Amino acid sequence: MSGRLAGKRVLITGTAGGQGAAAARLFAAEGARVVGCDLDVARAEATAAEGGFTAFAPVDLADVDAATGWITSAVEVLGGIDVLYNNASATRVGPFEDVTLEDWRFVLRNELDLIFTVTQAAWEHLAEARGSIINTASVSAWRGAAFTEQAAHGAAKGGVLAITRHLAASGSRRGIRANSISPGLTVTPQIQEFLDDPSHPMHGMEAAHPLRRLGTPEDVARVALFLASDDASYLNAIDIVVDGGQSVIV
Ligand SMILES: NC(=O)c1ccc[n+]([C@@H]2O[C@H](COP(=O)([O-])OP(=O)(O)OC[C@H]3O[C@@H](n4cnc5c(N)ncnc54)[C@H](O)[C@@H]3O)[C@@H](O)[C@H]2O)c1
Repeated sequence: MSGRLAGKRVLITGTAGGQGAAAARLFAAEGARVVGCDLDVARAEATAAEGGFTAFAPVDLADVDAATGWITSAVEVLGGIDVLYNNASATRVGPFEDVTLEDWRFVLRNELDLIFTVTQAAWEHLAEARGSIINTASVSAWRGAAFTEQAAHGAAKGGVLAITRHLAASGSRRGIRANSISPGLTVTPQIQEFLDDPSHPMHGMEAAHPLRRLGTPEDVARVALFLASDDASYLNAIDIVVDGGQSVIV
């Protein structure tokens, strides 16, 4: 490891597994001091102990008080915030005609509300450090998905793409930058059950990918590492699609 994040104080949401855990491990190994959080207590504690970072759980980030409490606790540990990585989300997918209003609200709450709650709570600390934000959007924000319908998920992630640009605009008067990552299908707990089910349309989808494999949490974490590092200090309001070219090549 080359210490690319030496001295950085980084907050990552959703560190119990998947991309959040991979990023927290990698960032800590690259010299960052990392504070994570999750809803899932047991997995959050296990990944933090194994990955050399601190994590608070349970934290329901869509709840304003809980999000604010996590930011306060994290700042007590780190003394400030150089990078906020909004990775956490929970979603529901399925045929459009079956989506209930409750499903819709669940998805917006757990994919978009939590960007607002956490980022607003962190805003003054980010301004103090002239820090940066990394939001996780999705290729679902860029294209439809007939293989697994996901209207609510796509709408929420479209919102993540849009708010990233507006955060960059608002941040310009406070020295805060904001960028996003749009992963393609990535093998994490969020989609593992679909990949394992031979009757599910996601099963075997690697054959439809230009690189003949799906993404890994580490593929995304390495891009997040770049965005969190000083190498990306002139990047602002951009989205990086990490899908092996799948959403562009037919
Ligand atoms: N896996 C994919 O194929 C894929 C594709 C595109 C985008 N994404 C996005 O990547 C990000 C990471 O997803 P992942 O695949 O690692 O999923 P994951 O389910 O493995 O991890 C997400 C974590 O967020 C936590 N979380 C959910 N809601 C929360 C809340 N309200 N408060 C606190 N913690 C909460 C979960 O407990 C979980 O540990 C998400 O934003 C997801 O939408 C994933």
